[in-house]
Amino acid sequence: TKDWNGVDKIVLRSPRGASARVSLHGGQVTSWRNEQGEELLFTSSKPPKAVRGGIPICFPQFGNCGSLEQHGFARNKIWTIDENPPPLSPNDSHAKSFIDLLLKPSEEDLKCWPHSFEFRLRVSLAADGSLALISRIRNVNGKPFSFSFAYHTYLSVSDISEVRIEGLETLDYLDNLCQKERFTEQGDAITFESEVDRVYLSTPNVVAVLDHERKRTYVIRKDGLPDVVVWNPWEKKSKSMVDFGDDEYKQMLCVDGAVIEKPVTLKPGEEWTGRVELSVVASTLCSEQFDVQRGM
Ligand code: BG6
Repeated sequence: TKDWNGVDKIVLRSPRGASARVSLHGGQVTSWRNEQGEELLFTSSKPPKAVRGGIPICFPQFGNCGSLEQHGFARNKIWTIDENPPPLSPNDSHAKSFIDLLLKPSEEDLKCWPHSFEFRLRVSLAADGSLALISRIRNVNGKPFSFSFAYHTYLSVSDISEVRIEGLETLDYLDNLCQKERFTEQGDAITFESEVDRVYLSTPNVVAVLDHERKRTYVIRKDGLPDVVVWNPWEKKSKSMVDFGDDEYKQMLCVDGAVIEKPVTLKPGEEWTGRVELSVVASTLCSEQFDVQRGM
């Protein structure tokens, strides 16, 4: 099937009816639905240039603190499908349905970022409806290179004022709203009442986003991704974004598994893996139960 811009997209389905849609434009997951058909990722209803929402891939740069375009070029490229992907690893053997997308630099990319790489993105949907994204980036260059990375995950929420994040308490973060100054989070779960644009550092491998109104908890499990970006543009910034409705900030929250503070350096021939798994539990967990899960 084709996406909004005529580019191919792939739909993965679980036996019980969960689904995920992946576009070759950017290797971007643009939809993830549970078994009831409810959309779990936010996408803006504004006419898109590229889709504002889903899970854009930020590579080889997160944000604007390098020489490249904001969040790097990977999200604006057309990826290809690997028709003969390597078999699933034991870690992912529960995944029934998956697709491997590939990105290699074009001549044009090499002019602005002169490093040859092979990027394999595996998107897999498990029988229970959980969604995993596994990125493998290999240096096929003669010299080392460094990059930063994020799965820019737009979760769909009922009302941002009713949402809280657990797992980031007491951590240090860089605040993008204050020239990336470093602060320390207080002991409470994170809630929202104004614009937030932060990079939490050295985070645990499990973070939870609790949506009270919908009685839904997103559980984000990650590997190889020490940092977590938390972003909500709130009212003023929303109005300045052309591909985002003025009130849409109420229905979304970005919580990204990322590598930002200490970029990854790959020597020639080396490969890096960054994995995120998103799942949903139907009712909000109390903190105690969540702590038990986190201990897993
Ligand atoms: C977030 C950044 O991850 O992405 C924000 O922390 C940025 O600073 C946001 O505004 C959206 O970026 P973009 O390029 O998709 O508009």
